[in-house]
Amino acid sequence: MAVMKDINDVCDLALAGRASRDSMLIDALPSKRMKYLDISAFSLINKSGKTVKNCGIWFVDGCFSRISPMISFEVLEDVSDISFFFFRVPNKGSKLKFDLKGSGHSGAFFSSHRMNMYCRLVGKNSHIIVGDALHIGGCTIALQNTVMTIGAGGLWSDGILVQGTDSHGIVDLDSMQIINGGAKHITIEPRVWVGRKVTLMKNITLKEGAIVATNSTVVKDVPTACVVAGVPAKVVKPRTSWCRNEESISKWETQQLSLLRERLGRENERPMAKKLTKITAVGVWQSLWLKALAAGAVGAAIFEGLSEMVVAVY
Ligand SMILES: CC(C)(COP(=O)(O)OP(=O)(O)OC[C@H]1O[C@@H](n2cnc3c(N)ncnc32)[C@H](O)[C@@H]1OP(=O)(O)O)[C@@H](O)C(=O)NCCC(=O)NCCS
Repeated sequence: MAVMKDINDVCDLALAGRASRDSMLIDALPSKRMKYLDISAFSLINKSGKTVKNCGIWFVDGCFSRISPMISFEVLEDVSDISFFFFRVPNKGSKLKFDLKGSGHSGAFFSSHRMNMYCRLVGKNSHIIVGDALHIGGCTIALQNTVMTIGAGGLWSDGILVQGTDSHGIVDLDSMQIINGGAKHITIEPRVWVGRKVTLMKNITLKEGAIVATNSTVVKDVPTACVVAGVPAKVVKPRTSWCRNEESISKWETQQLSLLRERLGRENERPMAKKLTKITAVGVWQSLWLKALAAGAVGAAIFEGLSEMVVAVY
């Protein structure tokens, strides 16, 4: 029985298993009471009945028996060197489907609240690493020679498409060279909210705390804590992030958002905010002047009154 603490433990276990084990699919499911699981690698049989080489799928920590029917692996062609690690398998209600073709693919999934995900890994060396406490309503991911990472605490709606590959070559007719080949990445930092029916294209980084508006297509990097919208997506609101509830910000979220604001510093501070400060400053000056004028007027009136009085006395 192995006790996993972090991704390194899982990877060590996976690599050790890959070198030494190649057993068949384990039918006997471990009991729900078993907290940490160390399931040996099992072989996949492809459509032509051939055993897939060096294939390892590891489920660690959690109720494998409850989740297993919802994970399906479909092998299209000869696949070799694939590994999947589930570090604390996703909770009940999660659905993961993989469609694998090629070699050298791997995935590492940390615990999640809910994940309805269909991954198509084709070609070679596609890796997907999914962070902790991620909610995905519905998402299709197509990767080919792509490394995709999704940070912890993200909130993804449904109908999302991750197009991490063009699938076909684009040829420059002058050089007769393919211009879209090579390794690609999609990097989503923690706590990014991806709206309904969003499309994420290859080679982009969505920075921490960003919000992608519904129906947008992201083709370029998205800065930290802002709203991007449209096709192609552009920043429509800088210095903006999100919380789960529409009516209130929880204590934990307040802490996270404050940290994010600290990290942002005064970068991209809204001109409106600066204007407001100026207006306030002007307002203070104005009110001081008005007060001074009023005080002067009252003073003058008193002085006048006094002088009148003085005059009257004389
Ligand atoms: C991202 C979102 C939350 C931002 O809301 P908001 O801050 O109230 O945004 P606003 O309505 O003030 O819009 C700001 C600007 O972005 C534009 N905009 C907003 N959403 C847009 C979209 N989907 N596509 C294109 N432009 C959009 C607005 O027209 C406006 O432009 P303007 O400043 O030129 O007038 C909202 O647009 C959205 O997409 N909501 C749906 C999220 C979703 O999918 N939820 C499902 C459950 S997870």
